Amino acid sequence: MASILRTSAPRAIRTTLLSSRRTPALPILQTRLQSHDTRNPPRGNPPIANRPPPDAPREEAGALRNNSKSGSYLGTTKRLPEFNLNDKVVLVTGAARGLGLVQAEALLEAGATVYALDRMPEPSADFYRVQKRAAEELGTTLHYRQIDVRDVPGLNEVVKSISDSQGKLDGLIAAAGIQQETPALEYTAKDANLMFEVNVTGVFMTAQAVAKEMIRWKRGGSIAMIASMSGAVANKGLICPAYNASKAAVMQLARNFASEWGHYGIRVNTISPGYIKTAMVEALFEQYPERKRDWPTQNMLGKLSVPQQYRGAAVFLISDASSFMTAADLRIDGGHSAW
Ligand SMILES: NC(=O)c1ccc[n+]([C@@H]2O[C@H](COP(=O)([O-])OP(=O)(O)OC[C@H]3O[C@@H](n4cnc5c(N)ncnc54)[C@H](O)[C@@H]3O)[C@@H](O)[C@H]2O)c1
Repeated sequence: MASILRTSAPRAIRTTLLSSRRTPALPILQTRLQSHDTRNPPRGNPPIANRPPPDAPREEAGALRNNSKSGSYLGTTKRLPEFNLNDKVVLVTGAARGLGLVQAEALLEAGATVYALDRMPEPSADFYRVQKRAAEELGTTLHYRQIDVRDVPGLNEVVKSISDSQGKLDGLIAAAGIQQETPALEYTAKDANLMFEVNVTGVFMTAQAVAKEMIRWKRGGSIAMIASMSGAVANKGLICPAYNASKAAVMQLARNFASEWGHYGIRVNTISPGYIKTAMVEALFEQYPERKRDWPTQNMLGKLSVPQQYRGAAVFLISDASSFMTAADLRIDGGHSAW
């Protein structure tokens, strides 16, 4: 996750846990821009109104018909159709990379049309792999819009233009977030305000913009906001007071949104991940090797998670599979915060 690292206090523990400063090398950027227009990505089958879940592939359909072997093609007319996201338009903030991008790919696999919103001028290299796969293999589309969630007028404009062009808006995963590791006694007001502006107000304004569109189209919708186990506990050996408070706020916002928007058919939930092993967490382990040893021992499964372990949660919460679930937190932390 992206970090904002400050240098104000000599004893501050500063990490690159969530660094967002990297920009792609220019030659790579140029090559990618020649082959991809991020505002007009390669198109697969356009979403068709009220499209039913797809049929099972031929071989599997045969097996399903005569029960000769167990089928596994989930999300079809035969298997768990409530997980199917065909015909749904979903926004994912923070999806230029990391957890947001992995969850966006899961939504695409379930059939959704997905718009990634992120402040990065150019998404990560992996974004282009997913975008290509969406068009060529999954029969759907992944789009990119550069927007900083702190730019509220810009955010509103982007959300409205997507909603206008698609004639609907069905889902949001709010994954954009920053992290900063600094002891409470050394935290500056400026840094704390930045943390809350992105992680709390940014999530708030994104959900508000999306909910307004959902209400306009009268189709209901589902919003999943990425909180953290750190919204419920203070992490041992990871000193992030403002970040942890911001994630507690995300959970409380979700309960309030759910209570205000339930009668519009809008559900609002949070996902609270435990530690996710990303490239940046790996880099952190090089800086603090004891964390690599200690962190896995702090949960009941004895290991850290990977972003792919949150794919199912994203599809579940956005789809009708969770149609009676709102104002809830889906904690996926290997039991960390139950110990
Ligand atoms: N990595 C973990 O261990 C962990 C654990 C629990 C929760 N989380 C949460 O998961 C979410 C994703 O984290 P990640 O690990 O994938 O981090 P990441 O840094 O890889 O991804 C975060 C994305 O958010 C974007 N972003 C940051 N500020 C933004 C802004 N102002 N406007 C628009 N986009 C912005 C970044 O550019 C980046 O693409 C975050 O909300 C994070 O707090 C992460």
